[in-house]
Amino acid sequence: MSQTTSINSTRSIFITGAAAGIGRAIAERFAKAGWFIGAYDVDEAGVMALRAQLGAHRCHAGRLDVSNPDDWARQLEAFFKAADGRLDVLVNNAGVAVTSYFEEAELIRHHRLIDINLKGVVNGCHLALPYLRRTPQSRVVNLCSASALYGQPMLSTYSATKAAVRSFTEALDIEWQRFDIRVVDVLPLFVNTAMVANDVSKMKTVQTLGVRLSADDIAASIWRLAQGAPGSLPVHTPVGMQTKLFYLLSKLSPDWMNRLVTARMAGH
Ligand SMILES: NC(=O)c1ccc[n+]([C@@H]2O[C@H](COP(=O)([O-])OP(=O)(O)OC[C@H]3O[C@@H](n4cnc5c(N)ncnc54)[C@H](O)[C@@H]3O)[C@@H](O)[C@H]2O)c1
Repeated sequence: MSQTTSINSTRSIFITGAAAGIGRAIAERFAKAGWFIGAYDVDEAGVMALRAQLGAHRCHAGRLDVSNPDDWARQLEAFFKAADGRLDVLVNNAGVAVTSYFEEAELIRHHRLIDINLKGVVNGCHLALPYLRRTPQSRVVNLCSASALYGQPMLSTYSATKAAVRSFTEALDIEWQRFDIRVVDVLPLFVNTAMVANDVSKMKTVQTLGVRLSADDIAASIWRLAQGAPGSLPVHTPVGMQTKLFYLLSKLSPDWMNRLVTARMAGH
């Protein structure tokens, strides 16, 4: 694929898991600023409804299971055409949680979670690279989580995938410097979405800390990461005061202290 510079001036963003929650809030935030939106999800009806809401000429949408490389290839190609030859920001947002003691969830659910939360991000970065390279100062934003700071009981495999995404982000951000592409992540604590309402809210840690972030808060952080000069972007952005505090403490305190605090918050 050639390295031609795009001439179209409308910036574009490709978002996975865009039918609901944080993904949907990101789509709405960027659409409000006039960006061209790519909205993808396994919930096809959900992203088609979003497309109708945003306006068909300003949004390309469709079914994409992030664990399936063929879905990625097909939708990236269609998006790039619809966006008139540019991909400014890829947001690897789609994710699922399994909230239980590790052994109580069937192994197949842990495998599926890894396929979505980790392999989905790897798939997206691998297949989007040719398109990102054709757009000057493009960037990737990965949805990480405060659970990447220290493994969370009742979210063991989920935390493991987010820690892996965090380290993948760090490595790729260095590798892709040679392509002028920044790779960064956001780390929120609990956000008021269906993921927390349906599943995660049964954790004692949620009752201890509360749910203080909205999907719009995360969308606002990602908006700032899309606007900033490439050299000014932090690799990791903890979202909200509470998360910033935990981020700082996890760096300053010894592992035994992080373990103790995590266990106490989880009621252990
Ligand atoms: N909600 C939180 O507290 C929280 C905190 C930190 C990080 N996150 C991360 O933010 C991201 C979005 O979470 P959310 O809270 O908006 O969740 P959500 O459950 O509200 O929405 C997730 C969306 O992803 C879609 N999805 C699920 N599997 C998919 C797949 N295989 N391919 C494509 N789409 C798929 C769902 O259909 C849904 O529309 C996730 O990566 C999550 O881990 C969430």
